Amino acid sequence: MLGTGYLGATHAACLAACGHHVVGIDTDPERVALLQSGRAPFHEPGLDELLSRGVDSGRLTFHTDYAAAARDCNVHFVCVGTPQSAGSSAADLSALWAAVSSLGPLLDRPCLVVGKSTVPVGTAAHVRDRLRCLAPAGSAVGVAWNPEFLREGHAVEDSLRPDRLVFGAETNEADQVLRDVYAPLLAAGVPSVHTDLATAELAKVSANAMLATRISLVNLLAEVCEAADADVADLTTILGLDERIGSLFLTPGVGFGGGCLPKDTRAFVARAEELGLGEPAGLLREVDAINMRQRARTVDLAVSLLGGRASGCAVAVLGAAFKAGSDDVRDSPALDVAATLGARGAVVRVFDPEARDNARRVHPELSYPDDIESACRDVDLVLLLTDWPEFAGIDPVSLAEVVGTARIIDGRLALDPDKWRAAGWNFHALGRSAR
Ligand code: UGA
Repeated sequence: MLGTGYLGATHAACLAACGHHVVGIDTDPERVALLQSGRAPFHEPGLDELLSRGVDSGRLTFHTDYAAAARDCNVHFVCVGTPQSAGSSAADLSALWAAVSSLGPLLDRPCLVVGKSTVPVGTAAHVRDRLRCLAPAGSAVGVAWNPEFLREGHAVEDSLRPDRLVFGAETNEADQVLRDVYAPLLAAGVPSVHTDLATAELAKVSANAMLATRISLVNLLAEVCEAADADVADLTTILGLDERIGSLFLTPGVGFGGGCLPKDTRAFVARAEELGLGEPAGLLREVDAINMRQRARTVDLAVSLLGGRASGCAVAVLGAAFKAGSDDVRDSPALDVAATLGARGAVVRVFDPEARDNARRVHPELSYPDDIESACRDVDLVLLLTDWPEFAGIDPVSLAEVVGTARIIDGRLALDPDKWRAAGWNFHALGRSAR
């Protein structure tokens, strides 16, 4: 397993649980040491247990050295990160090419290299050509693509019981290797789709583009609701009851974030432009723009509730992670809004049950109290920006006694407006009537 981030570490632990011998390889020695001790370097329910079981069984080990660890493996999964490039919206493939360059010269016998990283369509074919140039085994090195659809916070469950397995392979032999690797999941009835390299690559970015589009569409509806004095919560309930639409991924609010949806939407556009499809890809440019607009609209609403100026006001932000169940703050709408209010002169206190340390590393200028009450004490405004279940369970009567002014923005449609208004709160949510 080359790369032990969310994807690689989880996949390594899950394949060890399936009975395989797995070596996780990463260039970061601290990460490797932590994983070798059976602990995940991030918050992921169930993963520590699976890692320690794998390590204790002797089937799961972690290394920093490709040469020592990878040479004897039959299957090499490439799980390195493909973040957004610094100067453009395209994916940065430098870690992928570095992994290929390190791995290629070690491949001196028939084996299969399986890409799991999210890449622009067409990358797999280049990986194959490059590996065959570098590898002493030449064309005996096969390449397949096997995208991963796991969600942070559900990574173990999504890996052991995925909705589907996608095998992008050029030969029956490569397809059979993937069938063998995933035999326990296939035996348990997980559906599999067998396709070519390009379709498998596209499957991942397309799924994320579709999810992102759904969220931005619902956020557009929220904005229309505001302008027309309608209620987006009732509207999404109505839409969700249509079986063709369904109710999942239909929650409006401060928008999507994280290490996947935003960068994959942008990378999709960049690749579509390269393929001469810049015009129709405009749809996804709007998806991104609407998403970023939700953050700006949340800041604007906060500033207007504070009387037109954030400067000198005390604000509590509940949530720093990009979503509940995760300590990941990459491209987090919650932290972005908190930091923007801080930059406008507000004194911002952020509480998150898991993401505090990560948030502090990125925004040390904000303060991070230990609990909801300390974050909210004497503030002029509370913003709920990550959908942690404990926030939905807050008692508005008790919290009203703690704050300076009982005024709240629900940026995740998590609270019952009637209950909060009955407790004396001035309650606001994007897409919901202010009455
Ligand atoms: C996403 C996909 O859901 C996974 O299938 C995919 O494997 C993963 O990216 C990836 O590419 O690796 P993840 O980033 O963990 O998973 O998070 P999601 O659960 O998709 O949530 C993304 C963002 O959308 C979060 O900020 C969340 O708060 C937001 N969201 C989600 C909404 O604003 N509204 C919703 O109704 C649902």
